[in-house]
Amino acid sequence: MWLPCGCTSKYVASSFARRTLASYLHVSGRSRCNVAAFMPEAAGLEGVSGRAALRELSVSNSESFWAAVARHRLCWSTPFHTVQDCDLSRGKIKWFEGGKLNVSVNCLDRHVHTCPERVALIWERDERGSEMKYTYGELLEMTCRLGNLLRRHGVKRGDCVTIYMPTCPLAVASMLACARIGAAHNVVFAGFSADALAERIRDAQSSTVITVNQGVRGGKVTELKKTVDTAMQSCPTVKQVFVAMRTDNPVTMTARDIAMEEVREQKANQILEIQIQAVEGEFGIFEQITKRRKITVTHEMLKEDVVCEPAVMNSEDVLFLLYTSGSTGKPKGLVHTQAGYLLYAALTHRYVFSYHDGDVFGCVADIGWITGHSYVVYGPLANGATTVLFESTPIYPDPGRYWDMVERLKINQFYGAPTAIRLLLKYGDQWVNKYDRSTLKTLGSVGEPINTEAWEWYHRVVGDGRCPVVDTWWQTETGGICIAPRPSDPDAEIVPGMAMRPFFGINPVLMDTEGEVLTSNNTSGALCMAQPWPGMARTIHNNHQRFIDTYFQPYPGYFFTGDGAYRSEEGYYQITGRLDDVINVSGHRIGTAEIEDVVNQCPAVAESAVVGYTHSIKGQGVYAFVVLKKGIDVQEADLSRQLNGMVSEKIAKYASPDFIQFAKRLPKTRSGKIMRRVLRKVVESDLEGLGDLSTLDDPAAVQEIIQGHEKLLSKNRS
Ligand code: WTA
Repeated sequence: MWLPCGCTSKYVASSFARRTLASYLHVSGRSRCNVAAFMPEAAGLEGVSGRAALRELSVSNSESFWAAVARHRLCWSTPFHTVQDCDLSRGKIKWFEGGKLNVSVNCLDRHVHTCPERVALIWERDERGSEMKYTYGELLEMTCRLGNLLRRHGVKRGDCVTIYMPTCPLAVASMLACARIGAAHNVVFAGFSADALAERIRDAQSSTVITVNQGVRGGKVTELKKTVDTAMQSCPTVKQVFVAMRTDNPVTMTARDIAMEEVREQKANQILEIQIQAVEGEFGIFEQITKRRKITVTHEMLKEDVVCEPAVMNSEDVLFLLYTSGSTGKPKGLVHTQAGYLLYAALTHRYVFSYHDGDVFGCVADIGWITGHSYVVYGPLANGATTVLFESTPIYPDPGRYWDMVERLKINQFYGAPTAIRLLLKYGDQWVNKYDRSTLKTLGSVGEPINTEAWEWYHRVVGDGRCPVVDTWWQTETGGICIAPRPSDPDAEIVPGMAMRPFFGINPVLMDTEGEVLTSNNTSGALCMAQPWPGMARTIHNNHQRFIDTYFQPYPGYFFTGDGAYRSEEGYYQITGRLDDVINVSGHRIGTAEIEDVVNQCPAVAESAVVGYTHSIKGQGVYAFVVLKKGIDVQEADLSRQLNGMVSEKIAKYASPDFIQFAKRLPKTRSGKIMRRVLRKVVESDLEGLGDLSTLDDPAAVQEIIQGHEKLLSKNRS
């Protein structure tokens, strides 16, 4: 059933599309030629005389656009019969129904057939200068062995496998192995705590987990397997944990654990020798060593066949769940499906970054976030690119790390977060200038607004003023980039700090407070999407009602992003920030309610309110107001430490409050609702902007909060 090169169906479909659609062309030969060079499948679309017309058609006749793109860019085992079947008012989103395909075939086999020696992954390990390259052939082999291993251990189509690993080749192979056998994956960021991991495993109903013995980041070892062990105490349904070896340090294995390390034969033999000596020398530790020997040399993966029959998946079968924060305490498992997601990740990767065959694409995001899914793994691999897996931090071992990597790996597109740019800017230009960055063609930014100073520095210093900077706006929910300065005409202007232009098929609108569409320019409102697109999330795992309530209820008939935006006189979009109680700390999204939930679990705490405030490097910092129960007598410093520890332990370190202000009471409305708007203004020291306080139950509470805030700031300064 799978075509030998994995591509025949594509060529059949696309040449068919070209032949039939070419007869409708009403465009001049020259522009047709330009469009054909820009996007081959678009040359056959009616009335497309240039890039602007193509963008218009992608919205006005989105079915023709997406059908042509899907036929051309994906390899199908059965073609789709219906391009889309969507009803935003009911949260119903279906693309390419009837179509059957396998995502791992699209990301691997078809490239292996044409160019098996092309490098798929460059693993930029934490240890500088020790990068490792994996060809498409090697990645396919790793994926197949892993797919067979999972199958042999009973993982079936439709199951959900949780992956708790740092950014490394085996993590990518794990994602693709799930895709190969039809299981969904649920990657949990390896910085999340045991509690956060357990909550996600339980909600996803995973019975299989894949992890590593230890992680290494910024020169520090993290005990990932131990964290999994702790999480397992509250995950009774997990039957098996596969453990890979990132370091040489053995970890305690339980009956549930299966060693799967991908170490080279030679290295394994060395380990075996050492351990056999130990066995011979000290009979007393025979038992222990035998166990360890089994773990080290079993090589579950090496036992497996290198051929793994790909599952034939429907377009709308689940590809993965990815948990993200919303405005209530419980993280939501957003669901992405096969064909639409992959197509959208691939198309945006190709056009926003102007990726061309042979380029080395360097997205430094962790695979635990959507950016890692779409622009480290799926988008680049679907396009046959060489993609970088960055395991380290921007300042390890020094602030030249990124640019040293750009020089060493000859990176052509660099995609990072504003928080890292702001941090590096403070270390000075010399760390950038030390390295040759002449390979760079496009610079990207994602995850939070990029302020003008950081944008200018990125453009002028990192890109030597010659690389376009694309500020890309999107979300876990959107699957891929929705608004970015490119693609556009090559010399079209780029305004610093603005995402600017909607991508193909994206139709943004701004809403006023009455829920009416704002039609004029130079205006701000709630950012919504008026049309579905293939990359959007399909539901929230096990909670479709929450999906509808969050995204489709606020503005019926539209997808609500949760962000506010400004549309300039020229029609360019600029994101102004979240409209809900979600904050963005170092590009990591976190619901303030999630932090409050943890703080409120402390027996001394009566209630709390968490808000974000502007932080010069992290973008936003976490500021917690805490009211203690009556009669509690504790040292505030001790309690602060305890609360910080609780948040790190229950969520992750990055969510831990930068400031904790103890207060006698919080400003509330007469109906008892905490007025967070007022708290936000206080922490931003914007007392002029406190606004209407007439609904406050007791205005004196605000004065107390202001005084407490000033006291905390001056204590912090001294
Ligand atoms: C914010 C990350 C301003 C926004 C890909 C969004 C941005 C949330 C930008 C999604 C940008 C992302 N400018 N804000 N270029 N990109 N955001 O789900 O508030 O982790 O709603 O996806 O990050 O965060 P998420």
